[in-house]
Amino acid sequence: MSWTPRSWRSRPAAQMPDYPDHGALRRVEARLATAAPLTQIADIMHLRAQLARVATGRAFLIQGGDCAESFAEFGSDKVRATFNLLLKMGAILRAGGCGEVVHLARIAGQFAKPRSSSTETIDGVTLPSYRGDAVNGPAFDMASRTPDPRRLLDAHRQAQVTIDLLKAYAAAAYADLPKINRAVGSNEPARPVSLFTSHEALLLNYEQALTRFDEASERWWALSGHMIWLGDRTRQLDGAHVEFASGIANPVGLKCGPSLGPDELLRLIDRLDPGNRPGRLVLIGRFGAANVRDHLPELMRATRREGRNAIWSIDPMHGNTRSLGRFKTRLLRDIVSEVSAFFDVAAAEGVHPGGVHLEMTGADVTECLGGSLPLSEEDLPRRYLTHCDPRLNRTQALDVAAAVARLLGRRRLLITSDAA
Ligand code: PEP
Ligand code: CO
Repeated sequence: MSWTPRSWRSRPAAQMPDYPDHGALRRVEARLATAAPLTQIADIMHLRAQLARVATGRAFLIQGGDCAESFAEFGSDKVRATFNLLLKMGAILRAGGCGEVVHLARIAGQFAKPRSSSTETIDGVTLPSYRGDAVNGPAFDMASRTPDPRRLLDAHRQAQVTIDLLKAYAAAAYADLPKINRAVGSNEPARPVSLFTSHEALLLNYEQALTRFDEASERWWALSGHMIWLGDRTRQLDGAHVEFASGIANPVGLKCGPSLGPDELLRLIDRLDPGNRPGRLVLIGRFGAANVRDHLPELMRATRREGRNAIWSIDPMHGNTRSLGRFKTRLLRDIVSEVSAFFDVAAAEGVHPGGVHLEMTGADVTECLGGSLPLSEEDLPRRYLTHCDPRLNRTQALDVAAAVARLLGRRRLLITSDAA
């Protein structure tokens, strides 16, 4: 069967909400289908071109933002803080001599979460799990937890405002860049910054409605964001999410967790990037510090052996979650250890370590532990604000950027001394 924006509907779809009101869902889909697109095709092509430079080893990708965006905590200050943080991390990498940086935020659409259990039980009461603000509400009562398709319209509206804010900040940041560069010890000239948006393409009703055909390129484009990715729990070869992503022209990310073997990875790449086009596919490993050295080598070996141009990036967050009392947290030392293993494995396998994928916020939260302003277990309750997974705060995210800059710098030295 040939691909259409709705061909995913004949495939099994994991992790999608069960909407009780089908009529309301259809009305929302119709409204979204005529709503303004959130991104421009020319900007998506620009990201593709930048990612093609990552794929050929000339640039590095930083992707980061909230685990889940929230309706309640939305504000221009928050968007600005995420924007500035990504910019500063990029400046740290460039000051370290790491070359070109591609800035990609997890923002303006990151409102839906896969869950390990579809229900949650508290004191003998069982309700649907919270799946992100685009699906249902976090409060533990039936009304909040019932999936409501009208939330998709709210998500679209917030994404639109977020993108308008990002555009305004990008123009202003151009003026601020010399200051940001000086703060990280660099005197490079300011160039216009492009900040792109990305989210997990989990809610396919929303994605389909925002997918449009372009006569000039004769391709379908998902105009909900610049890049979308498939989560580790929705990457089934014959599933709905892979079907949807296979037909759009945007760059696509694929989370690769410990249950993915090399054969299945190659089959997924065949589905998602049959043309082997640099900049189309970003493989995002997320194994955990304890597992990365067991799983990543055979996957990288397979893509290298088969001559695949897909970018390799590392998400050192999702395999490193642990529970401390009633809190989920992540330790900076596990995060840095997984990133560092990623660089070692990439060097051993002759693959470009292309990027990092982080959950982080510009706010001063206490959700992950460790870092240069060390936080310990007693600090967790102070500002534990996330709606889903624990995020790096600003200082911790800058610590990770500094660690990445060191690793990239070491790699450059190795390459230079090899060439000498
Ligand atoms: C995420 O990125 O928030 C996420 C759920 O990741 P994964 O699909 O890798 O578990
Ligand atoms: Co997460």
